[in-house]
Amino acid sequence: MNAICIRRAKTGDTQNVANLVQESWLVANQNLLPSDTANALAKSADIGGFVAGEWQSIWIAEINKEIAGVAGVNPAGVIWALYVRPDYQGCGIGSALYEAAINMLKLAGKRKAILEVMAANENAVAFYRSRGWVQEGRRTEHIPGFRFTAVRMGLALG
Ligand SMILES: CC(C)(COP(=O)(O)OP(=O)(O)OC[C@H]1O[C@@H](n2cnc3c(N)ncnc32)[C@H](O)[C@@H]1OP(=O)(O)O)[C@@H](O)C(=O)NCCC(=O)NCCS
Repeated sequence: MNAICIRRAKTGDTQNVANLVQESWLVANQNLLPSDTANALAKSADIGGFVAGEWQSIWIAEINKEIAGVAGVNPAGVIWALYVRPDYQGCGIGSALYEAAINMLKLAGKRKAILEVMAANENAVAFYRSRGWVQEGRRTEHIPGFRFTAVRMGLALG
């Protein structure tokens, strides 16, 4: 695989970032949520609007000038997104984006990082656990016809 380039997002990236988040989210959740629920959520969530408002906290992984993954990490220490394009998963892109996000928080002087992930997303929970994150809480969310549990995780930044 060609070299991974990690860079900050630009305003012109927002549509491509939103498309990637939606595609990766749907693939990650297709076995966790009923498919009609997953599709309805993906359609109803204003991912484009959210990404457009948060573009300054987004990091992008590019391969051959194509966006292969994104991380969203804000100054409060919240990693609010980590998504790799399904056809690029397992190639080290998520790890590279994760390292960039953690380094950014350390450089900003943050002592702690936090995030939330669906409890049923075992791949993601394992990804964070193997990097030292610990579970700090759980909450159950109700959406029409379905309920799911989100795990809140934290990491002390040395
Ligand atoms: C979780 C995710 C960001 C990891 O990114 P990635 O580029 O696939 O991961 P990497 O290639 O850097 O590998 C990181 C680890 O994940 C493991 N991994 C990668 N692909 C995997 C897969 N399909 N199934 C299980 N484990 C996998 C690797 O073995 C590696 O293990 P390690 O932590 O012990 O080193 C990515 O799979 C993804 O976008 N998933 C869908 C969205 C999501 O669930 N995001 C997180 C919640 S917001």
